[in-house]
Amino acid sequence: MTMRRPIIGGNWKMNTDLTSGRSLAAEIASAAATPACDIVLYPPFPYLQQIGEVIAEGGVVLGAQNMWHEESGAFTGEVSGAMLRDLGVRSVLVGHSERRHVVGESHELIAAKAAAVIAAELQLVLCVGETLDQREDDRTLDIVLGQVDSGLSSVGCEAMGSVVIAYEPVWAIGTGRTASPGDAQAVHAAIRSHLQERYDAGVAAATRIQYGGSVNDENAGDLLACPDIDGALVGGASLNADSFSAIIAAAVTKKNQSIGTQSR
Ligand code: PGA
Repeated sequence: MTMRRPIIGGNWKMNTDLTSGRSLAAEIASAAATPACDIVLYPPFPYLQQIGEVIAEGGVVLGAQNMWHEESGAFTGEVSGAMLRDLGVRSVLVGHSERRHVVGESHELIAAKAAAVIAAELQLVLCVGETLDQREDDRTLDIVLGQVDSGLSSVGCEAMGSVVIAYEPVWAIGTGRTASPGDAQAVHAAIRSHLQERYDAGVAAATRIQYGGSVNDENAGDLLACPDIDGALVGGASLNADSFSAIIAAAVTKKNQSIGTQSR
């Protein structure tokens, strides 16, 4: 069995100001940094450099909420992979539901961005998830696996070590409603077996799949205990250092339990 290192992301979205963002990052870096878990913070673009300086000494990784797929040129308001790398960014969110549904990003654009993140040698966190209507119509797996296929259409087997998938049901994001651990695990397992068909068994076993959507310090333990849930992408609760640290602690507990199971 492949041991997958847990990964907990804090997606701050368009929140914090510079002062509160710096203190939040400092609190997280001192309270939560642990070698047992990858921790990634995704602050707003204007604060990347300063937040990067705050976390530079610890084990917390700097991430970006978005990226443009071209390398340079006349793309007013956009930011390239090389620019993000210059600021110390190592991970990029692509296909977040707010980009798909609020901004209107297409499957094609998301696929182009995903390919560009890999080309820039950054970690790609590809976000996928169904809307409430799609779930009620029993189309969850069609939608989610379709988003995996289109998002990774230019990503080959050899690049999959740089890919994390975040399953985030749209109806659970920012609503306080979470998928039950059983429902989330079923989708994660389906994504993993799809990766086996699309790539191979090694890729399926090694790829980390995060759950996202109203994860907090109370529900994280049960979600992270599921065998195919390898971490969490956290919005609201990542804006509070105590809640975010508790989610990280739940991920570390899961990892320790699976080490115990393996050595038995
Ligand atoms: P939420 O956001 O935790 O506030 O639901 C999750 C996300 O959008 O990644």
